[in-house]
Amino acid sequence: MKSPILNQNMEDEFGRTAKKLRISVTDRCNMRCVYCMPYNNTTWFDQDNLLSYEQIFHIVTIFADLGVDNIKITGGEPTVRPKIENLVKLLSGVDGIKSISMTTNGLLLKDKVKQLKESGLQSVNISLDTFSEYRFKSMTGIDGGLKKVLDSIDAAQRADLKVKINSVIIRGWNDDEVTEFARFSRETGVTVKFIEFMPLDGTGVWNSNLVFSKRETMDVISRDVQKLVPLDNDKSDPARLYAFEDKKGIIGFIPSITEPFCNNCDRIRINSEGRLFTCLFEKQGYDLKYVLQNRKSDNDIKKFILECVKKKPEGIVSIIKSNALKPTMNVMHTIGG
Ligand code: 5AD
Ligand code: SF4
Repeated sequence: MKSPILNQNMEDEFGRTAKKLRISVTDRCNMRCVYCMPYNNTTWFDQDNLLSYEQIFHIVTIFADLGVDNIKITGGEPTVRPKIENLVKLLSGVDGIKSISMTTNGLLLKDKVKQLKESGLQSVNISLDTFSEYRFKSMTGIDGGLKKVLDSIDAAQRADLKVKINSVIIRGWNDDEVTEFARFSRETGVTVKFIEFMPLDGTGVWNSNLVFSKRETMDVISRDVQKLVPLDNDKSDPARLYAFEDKKGIIGFIPSITEPFCNNCDRIRINSEGRLFTCLFEKQGYDLKYVLQNRKSDNDIKKFILECVKKKPEGIVSIIKSNALKPTMNVMHTIGG
């Protein structure tokens, strides 16, 4: 039931309206991607502080009243949180939520696709940066992981989930595999999205020379495969989508560094401890869980959220303009991208 008193959209001072909520359900992960996870992390969140599924459900009902219609479940790695399908089931019952998806590394996905689909999950974004088992180990720390991820992609497609691949291309590490990724999309029908490397690593390895740009990636694909033809884009989708002339395969780009899309951003995030981040590049976020536990009514919570979102910073655009991009500006594995 929608609260009759305070249902308004979450608008910020730049005129953007938040419609999509990304919920990180854990900061833990069963991989150690070089561009994401600090190797010897000693500062994991205390498990007792995690939002429970019931709290997440409550939060989502509130956000749905404020105009959110799209949920993405992220991590760390969301499938390491026990019974994650129960959360999907809860959220798929919330009035106003039209789409539930999950970003996952795919290691554990294969055995969960059926339950997730039955619980109401519609799509998965599976992270994959290489087709070499050797390189997979060096980029993620996991032996034999590539086969598991490929099996999960196959299983997800068979379970009728929409499947997209997220691939972070880093110069000198995996930029020689762009063509193979494009061919993979053409062979399997999954959308492959190339994400420019952002300074959100927990490892401090980022520098601007490592960014393999959308332009460079497109040039390689046009040269080695076929010309890319732009598709009509949903303006709020940061991915710029392209098809091939023969209509086989779809390629997306998330050019966060070379063509930042902050002015159309309609996303907000909560981490697994219940902090609200209105932007990936916001340092501290806001303690939504505290407000949830201590405010009297949903309307008080809504007022708090509306105030936070109003102050959403301009985003990476302004950091680039002031030439202030540097490694480890925020830690991706706690907010899930
Ligand atoms: N830059 C760009 N993308 C990143 N991801 C994780 N860290 C970074 C980074 N520093 C991506 C992963 C995954 C999603 C959660 O975010 O590849 O697909
Ligand atoms: Fe884990 Fe995803 Fe980060 Fe890799 S990118 S370490 S899979 S959270």
